[in-house]
Amino acid sequence: MNRAISGIQPSGKLHIGNYFGMMKPAIDMQKEHETFLFIADYHALTSVRDPNILKNLIKDAVLDFLACGIDPEKVFLYKQSDVPQVHELSWFLSVLAPMGLLERCHSFKDKLAKGLNSTHGLFSYPILMASDILSIKASIVPVGKDQKQHVEVTRDLAIKFNNLYGEVFDLPNPLINERVASIPGVDGQKMSKSYNNVIGIFESDKILEKKIKKIVTDSKNIEDKKDPESCNIFSLYKLFSNADEQKELAKNYYAGGMGYGYAKNSLLKKINQYFEPMREKRLELEADNDYIEDILKNGAKKASLIASDVLKNVKTAVGL
Ligand code: ADP
Ligand code: TRP
Repeated sequence: MNRAISGIQPSGKLHIGNYFGMMKPAIDMQKEHETFLFIADYHALTSVRDPNILKNLIKDAVLDFLACGIDPEKVFLYKQSDVPQVHELSWFLSVLAPMGLLERCHSFKDKLAKGLNSTHGLFSYPILMASDILSIKASIVPVGKDQKQHVEVTRDLAIKFNNLYGEVFDLPNPLINERVASIPGVDGQKMSKSYNNVIGIFESDKILEKKIKKIVTDSKNIEDKKDPESCNIFSLYKLFSNADEQKELAKNYYAGGMGYGYAKNSLLKKINQYFEPMREKRLELEADNDYIEDILKNGAKKASLIASDVLKNVKTAVGL
């Protein structure tokens, strides 16, 4: 049995891109692998500066994970800040991390372009992420495509440390499902909180409907023949439907006589059907604070045990 780890920053509402790119693959892991999932609250401090908002976003992220199907009997779920060894370990990686390696990270440049403050924390973000992964000795990291480079940085740092001090770290591999590696938002760009183009999975019916209506299409008329493969609505529809259903809708595109409103309604129905049970589960969980606290405590205990052991080996290796 391998060990898998993934995390999500509590920095906004869970959207379809997060769900299919990271959360579903991570949840699917629980059947075969020892799975650790965590709320990257230290990471979120790079962008969330309001304490009350942060508190609520952390709770939201925990509820999202649980409502989407984590089995707390199988998965260790915790908050990053409850495992301080992660942060301590990051120093040992930091002193080995070449500036050039961090300077090459796309994510830093992308975030500056999106208007985030240029801080040391944002720049050194990949080191803390490497520490999340290496402190748990995880070998599989299910993430979306935009996180691939961070897992490569993690490997580089682990190799650097091992070459200098001996084989302390295991090397992790990203697990990226190409089919869902970069899900488009309502404007056709990659769906992302920072692009204001997301479709949330726990939105109210009204907001969801409004967002689906906003999905950008070409300007063909109802009677025109249309191409499903270049259509944002169809790309999203594929996530929620089987091959026969896709064929059926595609037939309407090719035939002409179908307006995009029809395709949008078909998508809306599918999204509601798919997420309905999770929405109900989330409502039930919202009321049960003690249960959630217990799960997080249990997850942090297990993660701390492993991370303490790793940290001890690291300290011995470097001569402390
Ligand atoms: P956002 O871009 O909305 O800020 P995050 O950076 O918090 O999302 O991403 C959380 C996880 O969800 C990461 O593993 C990321 O790769 C994945 N993810 C985010 N957006 C998408 C998308 N559009 N398609 C596939 N995966 C995504
Ligand atoms: N950087 C990831 C994101 O923005 C979140 C994250 C932090 C993470 N540490 C991690 C993901 C470790 C996987 C493994 O989405």
